[in-house]
Amino acid sequence: MKQRVTGALCALAVMGSAFAQTPAKKPAARPVAQAPAAEVKDAATLEFEKFRAEMEDSNPAELFEMKGEEQWKIKRGPNNVALAESCDLGQGVGKVAGAYVKMPRYFADADAVMDAERRIVWCMVEKQGFKFDDIAKKPFADSNFTPDITNLVTYVAGHSRNMKLDVPLKDPKVREAYEIGKAMAAYRAGPYDFSCNTCHGSDGKRIRMQNLPNISTPQGAIQGVQGWPGYRMTGGVMLTHQWRMSDCFRQQRFPQPKYASDAVTYLLTYMIGTANGLEYKGPGIKR
Ligand code: HEC
Repeated sequence: MKQRVTGALCALAVMGSAFAQTPAKKPAARPVAQAPAAEVKDAATLEFEKFRAEMEDSNPAELFEMKGEEQWKIKRGPNNVALAESCDLGQGVGKVAGAYVKMPRYFADADAVMDAERRIVWCMVEKQGFKFDDIAKKPFADSNFTPDITNLVTYVAGHSRNMKLDVPLKDPKVREAYEIGKAMAAYRAGPYDFSCNTCHGSDGKRIRMQNLPNISTPQGAIQGVQGWPGYRMTGGVMLTHQWRMSDCFRQQRFPQPKYASDAVTYLLTYMIGTANGLEYKGPGIKR
């Protein structure tokens, strides 16, 4: 218990660095409108859903899965070793089937709870000999560039398609990560005094045209998990769950979390763990 509280305080201290930048006078928070309880879908949402249904037959995410498969199997890095022969995602060395829906999990060799992306980065560094700082320099895709890590995560996620989320919350280390993530989601700070829950902690919230899932319920949390990694129509790029978290730190006007850090894993453990038991449909398409 003591350890958990200390951990939570550390995580909050990291996030709390936002306080240092808090201006004396807070600008008024951007209003978060309350949508009617029975959600009326706007035209753009309906149009997008139609488009997505058509696209899903030839899901662009599959291209990234194919690249990721190649990169998983080929010998690479200073150590010239393949992830397929060295990287254990929790199901045995090289095994990808069902691994994504069972993360975040605790890895004894790293003595850390890790989400899928963080674990693959760990393997690239520890097994293949890549430098963490090189990977972290540009960890997410833009319109000109897709990092290897994005392809790899998409490949691994594709091998959990139509499986139930099964974050091992009975493991005390994972439970601890979940509880810290939960505390983080409720932690308000920054220039607008926002927490994740300001936007994602109750039903029916929306900003402009976006419905904001309530990640404190299984039904909302699965919306935050589904379709990631995802091919984003806006910009036409493939993005991971880690990217989604980073981008919401921005929405929240918080300093960017360090790539593949504890803070992001904690939030993912909370959100994915809350959706436990629900079916993950695999890499998808996002607006
Ligand atoms: C100021 C409001 C705001 C705050 C605070 C915020 N978000 Fe978000 N979040 C959004 C918006 C807006 C979107 C949709 C963005 C889009 O689709 O372009 C979103 C999307 C998401 C999604 C993806 C949902 C989906 O349909 O795939 C997740 C997951 C998420 N946020 C988690 C978080 C977490 C965790 C935090 C706290 C670190 C957080 N958000 C803080 C506004 C916010």
